[in-house]
Amino acid sequence: MADITLISGSTLGSAEYVAEHLASKLEEAGFSTDTQHGPLLADLHPEGVWLIVTSTHGAGDVPDNLEPFYAAIKEERPDLSKVRFGAVGIGSREYDTFCGAIEKIDTLLTECGAKRLGDLLKINVHDHEIPEDPAEIWLGSWKNLL
Ligand SMILES: Cc1cc2nc3c(=O)[nH]c(=O)nc-3n(C[C@H](O)[C@H](O)[C@H](O)COP(=O)(O)O)c2cc1C
Repeated sequence: MADITLISGSTLGSAEYVAEHLASKLEEAGFSTDTQHGPLLADLHPEGVWLIVTSTHGAGDVPDNLEPFYAAIKEERPDLSKVRFGAVGIGSREYDTFCGAIEKIDTLLTECGAKRLGDLLKINVHDHEIPEDPAEIWLGSWKNLL
């Protein structure tokens, strides 16, 4: 199993690119990574370190490719007490539901016993033309928590 499993949710690709960028930075820092775009819950080991990177669509909704993962956790309520996770959201402040998807996932994982490491990062795409930049800065301190 890789040191860190990156899990992305994306409709148009931005969150995927951010996840891939963070994976390459983690590899440079000596961690092994496994990046999964829109995995199913059954694809994942419920242990170790997960790094969730997701945009928000609809009105505060989880992107379609991550919805089955989210729905399965909501329904099955697996024991995630062996999971520690980082949380990065990408969205637009033009919506009342700014970064609603990462907030929902953060709440659900915590309810299932997972422990978040560090702050939840919310990137407003209107402030950051290149969302990889604030994500990389956040990663600099996050990886020290591992
Ligand atoms: C139809 C639509 C609905 C959106 N709804 C939200 C929202 O509720 N909250 C939010 O923070 N951003 C919202 N966004 C902004 C996206 O999250 C943002 O454009 C993001 O960069 C898309 O990332 P992706 O390419 O990974 O899908 C919405 C965008 C679209 C096109």
